[in-house]
Amino acid sequence: MKVLSVSLQKGGVGKSTITANLAVGMSKIIGERERILVVDMDHQGNLTYQMLGNPSDVEKTAIELFTPGEKYKATDIVHNTRFKNIEIIPSNLALSKAELYTSQIIDAHNRLAQYLKQVVFMYDYVFIDCPPSLGLLTLNALIASDYVLIPVVPEKYATMAITQMMDTIKMARAFNEKLQLAGIVPSIVDMRYRIHRATIKTLETNFGNMLLKDKYIGTNAPLKDAANRRQTIFEYDNRAASYKHFQNLASYVHRLMRITENEKRSETA
Ligand SMILES: Nc1ncnc2c1ncn2[C@@H]1O[C@H](COP(=O)(O)OP(=O)(O)O)[C@@H](O)[C@H]1O
Ligand SMILES: [Mg+2]
Repeated sequence: MKVLSVSLQKGGVGKSTITANLAVGMSKIIGERERILVVDMDHQGNLTYQMLGNPSDVEKTAIELFTPGEKYKATDIVHNTRFKNIEIIPSNLALSKAELYTSQIIDAHNRLAQYLKQVVFMYDYVFIDCPPSLGLLTLNALIASDYVLIPVVPEKYATMAITQMMDTIKMARAFNEKLQLAGIVPSIVDMRYRIHRATIKTLETNFGNMLLKDKYIGTNAPLKDAANRRQTIFEYDNRAASYKHFQNLASYVHRLMRITENEKRSETA
C-alpha cells in the first residue's frame, strides 16, 4: 500500500478536484485487482460530495477515528463509490470536532496512520484530500503518507504558501521519516496570464524539478461543469484539455507509487 496526500493550507487551489480526478485517473491505469481508497480529511466534504453524495447524509465518517472511546469496525467507515475499485472514508461537518477531542485521546496526530495499518492489505493506493489548514488533520494525513503532492495556483503568495507547507512537512517527518515530496503541481493555470507564466518560472527557480511544470492542470470549463454534475472529467468529456492533464498527472503518480516486486515481498513478509 502506498499513500499520497494532496495538501496545501490555502483553499481553492484544486486539492479536492485533483484528489477525485487523480483517483479516477489511477483507477483506469491499474489492473482490476488493485484497489484504491480515498480519504476526505476536510469537514467541508467536497470530495465526499464528488465521490459519494451529500456529506450530511453519510453516517460513519472520518470523525470516528478521533472520537474518544469510540468502538467501530475498520470497515464501518469505508463506503463503496460508483467506481468498482475505489472506496472512500467520507467526511462531513462532524469532522470539525476532531481538534476538540485531542486532549481526550492518545496519539491524536497518529490516528489515521494507525487506521491505515489495519487495512494495509485491502488497498494498493490511498489518496488523502487535506483541509485548507495546517492543523491536526493535515498532520494526520502527512504522518500517514509516503508522498505529498502540493497543488498551487501560480499567483501572489504561492511561494510563501509552499514555504510554510514545506515547514509542516519537516514537522511531520519527525514522526514519519519516509514522507517524500511527490511534487508541486501548478493548478487552475491559465498560460495566457503573464503572472501565471512568471510565477511558474519563479517556482521553478526555487524548487527545481520538484515543480511539475509539464504536469500542470490548466483552468478548464468542462472540469467545472463536470464537478457541478458530481462527475470527474473522465466521466464527462474525453476531449477536454483537463482530461489529458489528469491522465498525464495520474501516470506520473502511478509511476511514483507503483509498488516494486521487492516491496511486495517485504509487505507480505
Ligand atoms: N483546473 C480547474 N479548472 C477550473 N476550475 C477548477 C479547476 N480546479 C478546481 N476548480 C474549481 O475551483 C474551485 C476550488 O477547487 P477545489 O478543488 O475545491 O479546491 P480546494 O480543495 O483546494 O479548496 C472549485 O469550484 C472547483 O470546481
Ligand atoms: Mg477541498
